[in-house]
Amino acid sequence: MAGRVAIVTGGTRGIGEAICVALKDAGYKVAANYGGNDAAAAEFTKRTGIPSFKWDVADFAACAAGVKDVEAKLGGPVEIVVNNAGITRDGTMHKMTFDQWEAVIRTNLGSCFNMSRAVIEGMRARKFGRIVNIGSINGQAGQYGQVNYAAAKSGIHGFTKALAQEGAAAGITVNAIAPGYIDTDMVRAVPPNVLEKIVARVPVGRLGKASEIARGVLFLVADEGGFITGSTLSINGGQHMY
Ligand code: CAA
Repeated sequence: MAGRVAIVTGGTRGIGEAICVALKDAGYKVAANYGGNDAAAAEFTKRTGIPSFKWDVADFAACAAGVKDVEAKLGGPVEIVVNNAGITRDGTMHKMTFDQWEAVIRTNLGSCFNMSRAVIEGMRARKFGRIVNIGSINGQAGQYGQVNYAAAKSGIHGFTKALAQEGAAAGITVNAIAPGYIDTDMVRAVPPNVLEKIVARVPVGRLGKASEIARGVLFLVADEGGFITGSTLSINGGQHMY
């Protein structure tokens, strides 16, 4: 695998940051995409030595241009994509605005189409590719206050299985990871009294660590992983099993 180019969307903070660092440590050439927080991205790049690239993953044309830019700067075709970028706009249905709905669908689910479409032809031509989509326990089980997020994440799981069937004959694997509640800014934004109740339902008894998700990504993108496709790896401390 030495030197394969990987893009991690939403790669400068949270779970994405841990994925970038794990891939770099394993010898991949990594590009971290990010959407808005310039200060966090600059700090991330300084600390890790991993270049960061700003574009909006909800924007189809921006994804195509971003992939081209990464390929020019990192000197090779993108062979690994980790669709990790995601946002929450929580609220119960009767209070949710159309903007809250649309932002989450476009950013969390639309991004998977936009990024995969930008790399799929090259992967098919080279007969190799690894796509890992970060879903969620809340896409599997639903979550009060998250019809937008649960729909987008559930969509990611269907997207994964369909694209896996298309990619299989061309050496492209497509898998998902469904994280549970991981100790990141996103989860820290959940009201403390609500989070306390959620953690009480996690058999392992704590939030997960971003590095525990990154470990799963490394496993799925390995060259040796050619027979693993269309699968969902749940990493949630036992909170949801099926
Ligand atoms: N099940 C049943 N009832 C619930 C509930 C639940 N899970 N959560 C809240 N309620 C009830 C409350 O008890 C309350 O009922 P009463 O009025 O009878 O007391 C009612 O719903 C209203 O609750 P709130 O006062 O909290 O209402 P709100 O409008 O201020 O907020 C909310 C609602 C936005 C959903 C808020 O509760 C919230 O942010 N919840 C967290 C949602 C969550 O888990 N998000 C995950 C983010 S992390 C992530 O998404 C990463 C990942 O992939 C895991």
